[in-house]
Amino acid sequence: MAILVTGGAGYIGSHTTNRLLDQGQKVVVVDNLVTGHRAAIDPRAKFYQGDLRDREFLSQVFEKEEITGVVHFAANSLVGESMEKPLKYFDNNDYGFIVLLETMIAHNVKKIVFSSTAATFGEAKEMPITETTPQVPTNPYGESKLVMEKFAHWADVADGLRWVALRYFNVAGAKADGSIGEDHHPETHLIPIVLQVASGKREKLQIFGGDYPTKDGTNVRDYVHVMDLADAHILALNYLNDGNDSNAFNLGSATGFSNLEIVEAARKVTGAPIPYEIAGRRAGDPSTLIASSQKAREVLHWQPKYDDIEKIIATAWTWTEKHPAGYDDQK
Ligand code: UFG
Repeated sequence: MAILVTGGAGYIGSHTTNRLLDQGQKVVVVDNLVTGHRAAIDPRAKFYQGDLRDREFLSQVFEKEEITGVVHFAANSLVGESMEKPLKYFDNNDYGFIVLLETMIAHNVKKIVFSSTAATFGEAKEMPITETTPQVPTNPYGESKLVMEKFAHWADVADGLRWVALRYFNVAGAKADGSIGEDHHPETHLIPIVLQVASGKREKLQIFGGDYPTKDGTNVRDYVHVMDLADAHILALNYLNDGNDSNAFNLGSATGFSNLEIVEAARKVTGAPIPYEIAGRRAGDPSTLIASSQKAREVLHWQPKYDDIEKIIATAWTWTEKHPAGYDDQK
């Protein structure tokens, strides 16, 4: 009996795999290693390299392994890239999800927890964003994830496939011992880039937009620690195992930090000056995203342990200092 983790070589997938294994679960990882890293996969997990859109490959995994539930991360997840290559996002994220759901149903596996995103809400008219806030994405990435939520809904209606969609806000940090962490090529996320500047790997930060209607003109985001997120997936699996209905939850901290505040917090953590300049806006960026996680706290009993942005950044800094070349130093 095993949990299938798709995208287990990726940032959030590798942390969740580690947590599931620590809790005594058997884990099978599927990843095509296009953006994930072989070295990020916990050696205790069984690994199959392949693409979800490859029906034959995926069926074979379900035939060989006794899978009881799925935690699905494998996807493209960059807002900026999705504005330039929307069809890449619909192909990988949505078609990949269709093949996964069909394969699950064919093998009578009817429980899935999957990654959704704050980007499904777009430029929300209310803050904090709750589960009932209208979902109107402003970029193809968010649209591709909203479509996944809809697919899952109808698969439940037709086939009794039960699902939990976890809508992450901005994920950050690393496992506290710095053994696994965030490593994207190219890196586009704010905190890893800020830390690259702090470590001297990058000369300065460009802040995309200084004229948003926020406290200091820069975008405001809600940061959640990757290990807290990993815990939420395990709670969501338990929720489905307890026989509960399909559901969606927002996962954030209810606190928003502007991009400038992130730079300030990183300066405190690292002691580095972190020079920056204000550049033009990045296409597709909503001005503010802050989550209410009340529903996840009440229904899933989710209790995030990291409530302080400096502590979150400190764990990412430990990873950066231990692995200046990311996973490349482990090849
Ligand atoms: N930013 C900069 N300079 C950079 C990189 C980022 O100013 O070099 C800014 C962005 O414009 C944005 C903020 O930092 O205002 C955060 O950007 P990230 O790229 O780190 O994260 P996003 O908010 O764009 O997106 C992330 C995930 C998405 C998810 C979203 C939900 O990548 O998958 O959070 O909030 F949907």
